[in-house]
Amino acid sequence: MKGVVAGLVMVLSALAGFRPGKTARAVPAIYVLGDSSLDVGNNNYLPGNSVPRANKPFHGVDFPGPGGPRPTGRFSNGYNVADFIAKNLGFEGSPPAYLSLKAHRRLIGTALLRGVSYASAGAGILDSTGAGNNIPLSKQVQYFHSTRAAMEAKLGSAVVSDLLAESFFLIGIGSNDLIQFAMAQQAKNKSTTQSDVATLYGSLISNYSATITDLYMMGARKIGIINVGLSGCIPMVRAHDATGACNDGTNELAAGFNGALESFLADLAPRLPGLACSLADGFAHRQALIADPQAQGFVNATSACCGSGRLGGEARCLPTSNLCGDRGGYVYWDWVHATQRAAEMAAEAFFHDPAQFTMPLTFKHLAEKKGADLME
Ligand SMILES: *[C@@H]1O[C@H](CO)[C@@H](O)[C@H](O)[C@H]1NC(C)=O
Ligand SMILES: *[C@@H]1O[C@H](CO)[C@@H](O)[C@H](O)[C@H]1NC(C)=O
Ligand SMILES: *[C@@H]1O[C@H](CO)[C@@H](O)[C@H](O)[C@H]1NC(C)=O
Repeated sequence: MKGVVAGLVMVLSALAGFRPGKTARAVPAIYVLGDSSLDVGNNNYLPGNSVPRANKPFHGVDFPGPGGPRPTGRFSNGYNVADFIAKNLGFEGSPPAYLSLKAHRRLIGTALLRGVSYASAGAGILDSTGAGNNIPLSKQVQYFHSTRAAMEAKLGSAVVSDLLAESFFLIGIGSNDLIQFAMAQQAKNKSTTQSDVATLYGSLISNYSATITDLYMMGARKIGIINVGLSGCIPMVRAHDATGACNDGTNELAAGFNGALESFLADLAPRLPGLACSLADGFAHRQALIADPQAQGFVNATSACCGSGRLGGEARCLPTSNLCGDRGGYVYWDWVHATQRAAEMAAEAFFHDPAQFTMPLTFKHLAEKKGADLME
């Protein structure tokens, strides 16, 4: 096994003219599936006017990565949480967007050396969520499948299974499914029954389960999952409340899903030998942050830095929006998404001991697992 890994490193180094970098990487590559919290530009390559895109100012106004400040497709003033998770793993930022790599014919080399991001703003666990305007989770999995086939064609399946078993798979999705459900219920003007909610959770968990099982069958062994966020407290939702308060019903819908996700993962792990999962509690992290923002140096935990109307929560971030000056002091970048600083703090919380916001182990300990031991 050692020989295969050493051989792999040589092949990969030769492929990219790559010299061992300054930062030690905890894993060879990262593969990202999810929604706008993780998207790094896939949606810029989707056709249509209704596709959610962060390709205009003021998005990226503080982007610190290669190329300098500019809109990159990230829903943030700078990096997003995928970038900070990648940085904690020893990379310079998130792996690039799949559709961008395809367009520039750089898919295979990058997939082998850094990984790929399939995340797409507006995407849901269900294909019906935002249908036609994003890459749904099932299609993200298909894109990973074809990436893997291309990698195998280049290096053979033994090398690729070693690489994938050591790699970090990051998934964050579900908020859009819950928001679409809540809006549909509102439009129907009928109160939501417990059985409606149970049916929703059932189909979400069944498809989430299919996704994780598919990734496992394709060789994934280390999977880090971020649960659904505190959707009832985003400026878009608060703007609808007379006092600007969080919407408890929306938060309860998210918390219920997160509970179902937690118990499903606890059941799943023993059924897929060698699978190591860490579930990160983005919901609880945000709750703690906005309960006492000053403790973390934030001055504004209710309003969007870039937006318009009440709490900056009545429209998305546009070149004509108001833009706050003190961006490091805001929790929310736009009407839905975190600022770079809030994203950085979440990623840090998912890595560091004690495992207050991850279970059963931190992302750091997940990355350190030996993929070879996880392979059956
Ligand atoms: C659920 O997942 C399967 C497999 O990934 C996919 O083919 C199917 O379209 C999904 N169903 C829904 C309702 O999204
Ligand atoms: C929903 O209910 C409100 C009052 O409860 C009513 O004013 C409104 O017309 C209803 N909308 C629909 C689409 O039935
Ligand atoms: C937060 O920012 C908004 C707009 O940027 C402002 O109206 C509001 O007063 C701020 N709140 C606090 C607590 O500073």
